[in-house]
Amino acid sequence: MKVSIASDHAGFEEKELLKSYIEGLGYEVIDQGPDSDGRVDYPDFAKLVADDVVSGVADRGVLVCGTGIGMAIAANKVDGIRAANVTTPEFAALAREHNDANIVTVSGRFVTDEVNRAIVKTFLETEFAGGRHAGRVEKIMALEP
Ligand code: RB5
Repeated sequence: MKVSIASDHAGFEEKELLKSYIEGLGYEVIDQGPDSDGRVDYPDFAKLVADDVVSGVADRGVLVCGTGIGMAIAANKVDGIRAANVTTPEFAALAREHNDANIVTVSGRFVTDEVNRAIVKTFLETEFAGGRHAGRVEKIMALEP
């Protein structure tokens, strides 16, 4: 599985930590930047990861900003993306099982690296449950213009 990852300045440090962690789990990581903690605009980086996921260059995406909220809002503007802003491993599991989320967004400022690692590991290892959830996800995607 290939994982595309990016952040803004507020998530840069955590993005670097998560990148190494995900590689250590055995996944191939595409780092879409930034390369430093200089000030940037999170929608630019959300788009890079969203495009990787929609095009199939990556199977899943991870985005980090101060809260994870802006990244989720931006990524969800891209057709085909189901991005979930997650602050607990339990919600990471549910975002995969019930919502078939293909991008997880996390907070670099308000959630610890330890918790973010657990979130990302769960997100990457949990399958979509399908069944009664499949039709609901289809209805989500039918909302796209
Ligand atoms: C940057 O200051 C901050 O607004 C951004 O990282 C993110 O939290 C937005 O949702």
